[in-house]
Amino acid sequence: MNLLAKKPMDVILAEAEGGGQGALKRALGPVNLVTLGVGAIIGAGIFVLTGTAAAQFAGPAVVLSFVIAGIACVFAGLCYAELAALLPIAGSAYTYGYATLGELVAWIIGWALVLEYSFGAATVAVGWSGYVTGLLRFFGIALPFDPTPKGHVALFGFSIPVQCDLFAMAAIIVIAAILIVGIRESANFNSAAVMVKVSVVLIFIGLAVGYAFGHWSAMTANWHPFIPRNLGAFGEFGWSGVMRGAGVVFFAYIGFDAISTTAQEAKNPQRDMPLGILGSLVICTVLYILVAGLLTGIKNYTLLNTAAPVADGAAVIGARWGVLLVDLGAIAGLASVTLVMLMGQSRVLYAMAQDGLLWPWVGKLHPRFRTPYLATLAVGGLVAFLAAFFPIVFLAKLVSLGTLLAFAIVCLGVWVLRVRRPELARPFRTPWVPLVPILGIAVTLALMLSLDLPAWIGFGSWLAVGLAIYFLYSRRHSKVQRALADTGARAGAG
Ligand code: ALA
Repeated sequence: MNLLAKKPMDVILAEAEGGGQGALKRALGPVNLVTLGVGAIIGAGIFVLTGTAAAQFAGPAVVLSFVIAGIACVFAGLCYAELAALLPIAGSAYTYGYATLGELVAWIIGWALVLEYSFGAATVAVGWSGYVTGLLRFFGIALPFDPTPKGHVALFGFSIPVQCDLFAMAAIIVIAAILIVGIRESANFNSAAVMVKVSVVLIFIGLAVGYAFGHWSAMTANWHPFIPRNLGAFGEFGWSGVMRGAGVVFFAYIGFDAISTTAQEAKNPQRDMPLGILGSLVICTVLYILVAGLLTGIKNYTLLNTAAPVADGAAVIGARWGVLLVDLGAIAGLASVTLVMLMGQSRVLYAMAQDGLLWPWVGKLHPRFRTPYLATLAVGGLVAFLAAFFPIVFLAKLVSLGTLLAFAIVCLGVWVLRVRRPELARPFRTPWVPLVPILGIAVTLALMLSLDLPAWIGFGSWLAVGLAIYFLYSRRHSKVQRALADTGARAGAG
């Protein structure tokens, strides 16, 4: 067994050509891809975690947290774009890792991506539920049951807080069903949701700028101190708080990489992958910095730890219709993010199953819809469970950790591939290699280290389960390992 076995580049490029039986449909154009990106990016991060990170870690300097996380994403995005254009194939970073760093690393990236998309979809669904609850409150609607019951259970003498978010769970079930029906139908739903949420973010910015004209001194008072003094522990305000805030709001940028998971479904991946990834990243960074800056000016950071902070900000401005629009935009927007994440998830699993690293049923396509329906069903079940029972910030930190690791490896992969296969025709070239990959790795590792111990324990456990599957199943069924063994046997016989 060779843990460093690499998937041959000619095999990957042939797969990327698509065609053949069982191939996914090529239905996505450049506008679809940018909307898919923005659809995946703007979500619970800006609508919920901005408030959490400001209140718990960074204060008004959450703006700096957004800048730092954005820088990490630009470096990683530039590397992603090179690989996505070179290897336009479902599975994204996982496939890039397989080609460049070997099977074990590929497995770790694939497993980290499964974490990113499944826990990410759950995180966003919990955020969505918060805004749905806010909307019901806005209209004064009281349900005959509590959709998000909370309580405590006694375990080993401890009282553990528990929750059950029925709204979040229901959202996941509906979205999984939409995904099974097919990619183009899903992309249409997504485009509509993206337009709504981008408009709402712009309306919030407009309202807040108008508010600033009449309340400038109140806003500047809220921005002081810009970086609140550290409270004594790492991550509780001060510069370490800005870094931990960056690790948390990094979640807000996750999603541009989901574009690369649809490369096999893009009409012209060489031209459109980089366009989709970098274009959507730039649009979102600008919007985030504006929203975070204005929100912490409108409402003091100490009051922002709520389930729907942006709607609460609109309420301070005093525009009731603004609150309604923010609620509606967040609800549509977060639904679209959940959709893209669940879709990315099933595509990564599909790619891993095609390589023999997961059970064959995972890669089975529906005879009529041509979507990986069994994987979507299985993942939908897991995600519905996570969304129902876990708190949003814990889920978000885990997602950030998994994704940051995958990003660091992608940056390394670009560099390694430039050295090993300099001759490959790269439709998009990351500038200043190896400087950009090195900076990408440095910033992503710094963000990982800024996250707390419970997140690391959760992440470590996830990785341990993944490695157990790899050593018990995948390495024995890997097609690449088998091909290597056959070649070896033939050479021995010859
Ligand atoms: N970036 C996505 C969000 O903020 C995951 O919800």
